[in-house]
Amino acid sequence: MTCSPKLFSWMNEIRQHLHQNPELSFYETETATYIQNKLQSIGIQSTGGVSGTGVLAEIGPSDTKLTIGLRADMDALPITEETGLSFASDKRGSMHACGHDGHVAMLLGAASLLQQMDLTHRIRFLFQPAEEKGNGAQKMIEAGAIDGLEAIFAGHIDTHYETGSITVDEGIICAFADPFTIRIHGNSGHAARPHETKDAIVAAAGLITSLQSLVAREVDPNHAAVLSIGKIQAGEIHNVIADNAILEGTIRSTHPDARKRMLAGLKRMVNGNASLYDVRTELVFLDTLPAVINHKLATTVARDAAATIVSKENVISQGPSSLGGEDFAFYLQKIKGCLVRFGAKKTEPSGPAHSSTFDFDDAVLSIGASWYAQVAMNFQKQV
Ligand code: NI
Repeated sequence: MTCSPKLFSWMNEIRQHLHQNPELSFYETETATYIQNKLQSIGIQSTGGVSGTGVLAEIGPSDTKLTIGLRADMDALPITEETGLSFASDKRGSMHACGHDGHVAMLLGAASLLQQMDLTHRIRFLFQPAEEKGNGAQKMIEAGAIDGLEAIFAGHIDTHYETGSITVDEGIICAFADPFTIRIHGNSGHAARPHETKDAIVAAAGLITSLQSLVAREVDPNHAAVLSIGKIQAGEIHNVIADNAILEGTIRSTHPDARKRMLAGLKRMVNGNASLYDVRTELVFLDTLPAVINHKLATTVARDAAATIVSKENVISQGPSSLGGEDFAFYLQKIKGCLVRFGAKKTEPSGPAHSSTFDFDDAVLSIGASWYAQVAMNFQKQV
């Protein structure tokens, strides 16, 4: 399954158009219309408005029970682009800084390739909103997007790896993510008379420092885990003791035991902090993102497809699980599937994913499209 130079140009144009016109999670309306138009131009009917802005399309014979899904995410990030690219984002505060523009282009490319094949089963294309929000996949599932699917596959552009390589790993490849908010309530007063107050900032500072010992002392050192506080908000002015502090953070873990210990330790420390500093504390867990756990059979199919596209020696392992999250995990809780990473390192330096200077090697578009199409065809052979 190979892409012609013509197909590459088509995909590159799509990628550059989307890159220039990024839309944030659940606001991908123009992106969705653009995708539907592109599908129509290659003779594929689609349904829009799935879980808000998602797009679904299906091809293949109708007299088969076997349907497999190929998924691309399509949202941008709230970042102002600083790449200086000719097709850089036209919108301040919105940028495709994770390669989702490339994912859409690849999946459209794969649709074009598969449209010309003699298919013996059905293939469903899922253009999913709001991966960056962590719940787009869940909304797609609620809207019935994976009903009747036997398996689902996806790839993510990754500039850590050389262009021409694909990472394929069975088992866990992305971490459990447990975001949380902590509220600390004290009493305000004059900065010169702390004995008349309950200082929320001192309590917050003590808690932040204590929490770091969870990774060091409670988790098996062989199990990866991290606790990061990404936001702290407290106080108004230098001479007033703050009565409230809000902390926001996330726990990432790759082993159920580590996760259990981290969550229990966090609860215990937040509660303990209340009596330690004589304040009131509240801990709220936000939406949890499960780990991405690639299924055995689907991983074998994904690996064989990758070997066909980039040759066996370029099918590599990502090594230990990433501590990043991916909402593809929700699909894998329901059906079998596999998420791979497409190497897309540029020769000239560019920033990492989720930075204002992120860019990837556009040669990856052909590799991604070919892999998507190949994995869909290979699954057919296995069954
Ligand atoms: Ni991403």
